[in-house]
Amino acid sequence: MTEIITAEEMSRQREFTEKVARLNSQREQPPVAHVHTFGCQQNVSDGEKIKGMLSGMGYGFSDSPEGADIVIFNTCAVRGNAEDRVFGNLGALKHEKRRNPDIIIGVCGCMVQQEHVVKKIKRSFPHVDLVFGTNALHTLPELIFGQLTERKRSFYVPGGDGVIAEGIPLKRENSLKVSIPIMYGCNNFCSYCIVPYVRGRERSRAFSDIIAEAKAAVDSGAKELLLLGQNVNSYGKELGSSFSELLRAVNAIPGEFKICYMSSHPKDATRELIDTIAECEKVTRHFHLPVQSGSTRILKEMNRHYTREDYLKITEYIREKIPDAALTSDIIVGFPGETYEDFCETLSLIREVKFDSLFTFVYSPRKGTKAYDLPDPIPEEEKGKWFRELLSVQGEIGRNMYEKYVGRTLRVLCEGTGRTKDSLLTGRTEQDVIVDFDGDERLIGQFVSVKIEQAFDWILVGKSVE
Ligand code: SAH
Ligand code: SF4
Ligand code: F3S
Repeated sequence: MTEIITAEEMSRQREFTEKVARLNSQREQPPVAHVHTFGCQQNVSDGEKIKGMLSGMGYGFSDSPEGADIVIFNTCAVRGNAEDRVFGNLGALKHEKRRNPDIIIGVCGCMVQQEHVVKKIKRSFPHVDLVFGTNALHTLPELIFGQLTERKRSFYVPGGDGVIAEGIPLKRENSLKVSIPIMYGCNNFCSYCIVPYVRGRERSRAFSDIIAEAKAAVDSGAKELLLLGQNVNSYGKELGSSFSELLRAVNAIPGEFKICYMSSHPKDATRELIDTIAECEKVTRHFHLPVQSGSTRILKEMNRHYTREDYLKITEYIREKIPDAALTSDIIVGFPGETYEDFCETLSLIREVKFDSLFTFVYSPRKGTKAYDLPDPIPEEEKGKWFRELLSVQGEIGRNMYEKYVGRTLRVLCEGTGRTKDSLLTGRTEQDVIVDFDGDERLIGQFVSVKIEQAFDWILVGKSVE
């Protein structure tokens, strides 16, 4: 069962925040924290909570672990290379600890929800002081107080179905583009994926809490709200609500802003939801709908609960209802037992759908998942070849994809200085396509009409028009 963290517990944590702040205020110089987040938007959002809590405890922030009083690695477990990167970075902190034995080194996030990782940290990374799991985030003030008052290694990784903790302070990375978690965890157990094991069961935040957070963000100037969950399409099932209902309510908040969301699972991308998106003018015209494979046989092995045909039907319906929509996807190459013929079905699917862009991954075995135990006879080298073939096919499809925008005037949220040149501004269209354009710096943070003049593989270039 989901554990709702009580108001009393949150107020107890606030008391610890104050105690730590008092200890820190006695120091000659204000202490500094370095928080490094790996992984997806969900983790970035947790990182904002970690920084929010640390800020309340009197910590300033630095971009590097050097000279920091506390270092926290907020980790990701989704693929082997994500974990290797964390271990590499953790190893490098040994020198920092030698230089400054008072430094507090903490590791949290998805990796530490795995027992074998905690064992490895205990054994091979003795300079790590504090390990806390995804369900223990809200207890950070208490854990830091413990570290400051009695220096001993502490490991706190509660299991269970997962918690919902409201009222954790936030230090937003970006005040223009604001992330709002709407649900946590995942129940889908795609056979390759570690997320359901490290993030617990699917649980939705209360409708009213989400709307209040969205309103407050818009009132303080946010122009883009990113609604977050592992599978936002199943929001609210246990509350008698739905993602469609939530989208309508967020869309009805007064003000000029854009609504984005991630991730969507194709099995729950219903016609009703697509109709809702078509009607809600603030919702992005970008569908990121991870297909993973174009082979129905592999999709079944992956436990995805849709067929190739189901997927094609959804994308056709999107094209019919919202002809302007951009479509992107995730693909896994080399799932255990995948043959070259199966892989060719993925190639034919991407040719058929014509995605704007793809996030492509070589299958990475994750201990504890169902696919981990499946025979996997294709050598990595061969998978690498398939992967390069996929990139080259998508490269051809993507080329000239943006030509259709040349000559049109598009609404762009201006985010900052140009990606191609400092003298330009940059932003994203309603389809999430990146645009660099000529214009006055005062446009940063506003919606701007941009006339598109040139199209490249990954970016449009144009001029702002009134
Ligand atoms: N909840 C999101 C996905 C989160 S993980 C969703 O279902 O869309 C993001 C992407 O990582 C997945 O879509 C998948 O393509 C990829 N991925 C997940 N586990 C993987 C693994 N074991 N090996 C390779 N890629 C993986
Ligand atoms: Fe992983 Fe599947 Fe859940 Fe996405 S929906 S997080 S891929 S188990
Ligand atoms: Fe990684 Fe955890 Fe996100 S495993 S992808 S950080 S939910």
